[in-house]
Amino acid sequence: MHADIERELISQTQIAERIETLAAEIVRDHAAAGEISMVPVLTGGMIFCSDLIRKMPIAMKIGMLAVSSYPGRAVHSHGAVLTDARVGDLNGRHVVIVDDILDTGGTLKLVQSELLERGAAAVRSCVLLRKLRAGVSPMPCDYVGFDIPDEFVVGYGLDYDDYYRNLPSICTLKPAAFARRA
Ligand code: IMP
Ligand code: MG
Repeated sequence: MHADIERELISQTQIAERIETLAAEIVRDHAAAGEISMVPVLTGGMIFCSDLIRKMPIAMKIGMLAVSSYPGRAVHSHGAVLTDARVGDLNGRHVVIVDDILDTGGTLKLVQSELLERGAAAVRSCVLLRKLRAGVSPMPCDYVGFDIPDEFVVGYGLDYDDYYRNLPSICTLKPAAFARRA
């Protein structure tokens, strides 16, 4: 285990099992449409999306959007900004946004309106994690892997200062890891 990890919240096995279920639900919900466009939100959503799509036996195109909301060593959202879009022609297409985590909802809101503006017929969203904050009701999301408490997590795409995305499970970091990169 990586020396900076404090605690593992969700294991590789739990993630893999949950992805099987989510993939089946998404395929079922798009059976009538017959085709789907998957749009991971970079950088955090790419690992989740790459595992998810390989469990989805359906005609599929893949686009990509890049959004920045936690620049550098930030551990709270600074507001979502679209920094790149490679989604092709979305006119009339059924699109699923894939992100690592739903926190304030700023990212999903931004991406949803961007994709609708580009002509998508339907936009659904899928996140691996949803952070639950006391007294705040989360924005609607069609597919949610796991609800987690309001803690800063890394791994499986999620970063701190762009590090730790390659950890295979969802973990919290030791205070010393934050201090060292500060
Ligand atoms: P939102 O726009 O506030 O919903 O935040 C979503 C984005 O913030 C995600 O796509 C992540 O990139 C980032 N984020 C939110 N919480 C965490 C966390 O605990 N660790 C790492 N990144 C996070
Ligand atoms: Mg992100």
